[in-house]
Amino acid sequence: MESGIDRAYGDRYNKTARALRISGEQKGTANLYIARSLLRNENRAKVPVLLHSFGGNMSEIIAIASGKGGVGKSFLASSLAMSLAAIGEKVLLVDADLGGANLHNFLGYKVPPTGLYNFLRERYQLGDIITKTEVGVDFIAGSGDVLGMAHITKVERQRFIDKISDFDYKYVILDLGAGTSYNMVDLFNLAAKKLMAMNSEPTAIENAYGFLKVAAYRYIERLLAADNSFQDVSRKLRNKSVSYKGLDDVVQAVKEIDQAKADEIDEFAKNYKIGISLNMVRFKKELNIFYGFETVVRKYLKIHVEKLGFIPFDNKVSESIRLMLPFYRNNLASSTASCIDDIRDAMLKKL
Ligand SMILES: Nc1ncnc2c1ncn2[C@@H]1O[C@H](COP(=O)(O)OP(=O)(O)OP(=O)(O)O)[C@@H](O)[C@H]1O
Ligand SMILES: [Mg+2]
Repeated sequence: MESGIDRAYGDRYNKTARALRISGEQKGTANLYIARSLLRNENRAKVPVLLHSFGGNMSEIIAIASGKGGVGKSFLASSLAMSLAAIGEKVLLVDADLGGANLHNFLGYKVPPTGLYNFLRERYQLGDIITKTEVGVDFIAGSGDVLGMAHITKVERQRFIDKISDFDYKYVILDLGAGTSYNMVDLFNLAAKKLMAMNSEPTAIENAYGFLKVAAYRYIERLLAADNSFQDVSRKLRNKSVSYKGLDDVVQAVKEIDQAKADEIDEFAKNYKIGISLNMVRFKKELNIFYGFETVVRKYLKIHVEKLGFIPFDNKVSESIRLMLPFYRNNLASSTASCIDDIRDAMLKKL
């Protein structure tokens, strides 16, 4: 069954498969995901912190998240940054994986240069921790091996975000850590362009759905925070076992208290848009995952999903990391790099 696959994706896949010599019609099963398995993943967050927005920041923030780890966020973040630089954009790439920073490896650094830790916990200015890389992208390294860095405070996070606006970047790309920690969810919610990386494994899809649900519920909780009459709704939004099944239920509960607030939530859902990219694709049928995910997210969370593109499984990706050679810049003519350019273009056009 191939009916879900867009012609454009199908054509791109066939071309890529030929170039990488993968046999596209092997019997890989397309794991189409069903609401039942996704909905088991109930809201895990305890969500006490208010979100902040960027205020007057001129840079556009692109956040790259995933539910599950190891699905290719850092590869996508670094490659997108280089791909945007290739069309002349000024880009700052930030390793915001606060507990497990390794983005520097994708840029050719064995050990991270001066980075976030130095800014947040020492007396460095933001300008002092920006590294000019050789791949045309400015970079802020993370500090994964520092105890406590995974738990930066709301104030620290905001100081960092505010300072970015002093710099004149067209795009700031945040490579987020896996999971639904407050920091990751809040950084995702404040980004203008929200991207999710996933692969076709059931766990990756389920966790991606779980992440989105937590992010959406947290956003709604913020909308309700100022008014005490929504305390019960907010509590339920945070509760793992008895939370709302989907956005319709949330809107219904809010409507019973205040119609205008319910309209606000409807409005939020209309404007909340995410882009998805499928990584490590080995079989053409995996592209159907897009459609299963989109359908479930639309049905239960009412969130708009844009299918941005896919990246094939390519042995050269891990080889490049081992050799400390940034993949995209060293394989410009590859079909994998073309797939990344497609994702870039779709992101600029659709998000
Ligand atoms: N398209 C690909 N083809 C082959 N291997 C890939 C591809 N994308 C990523 N990988 C490999 O998968 C590994 C995980 O990728 P990456 O570090 O980008 O994932 P991540 O989602 O950022 O992980 P984490 O959650 O740990 O931060 C990398 O070591 C890389 O070698
Ligand atoms: Mg990563």
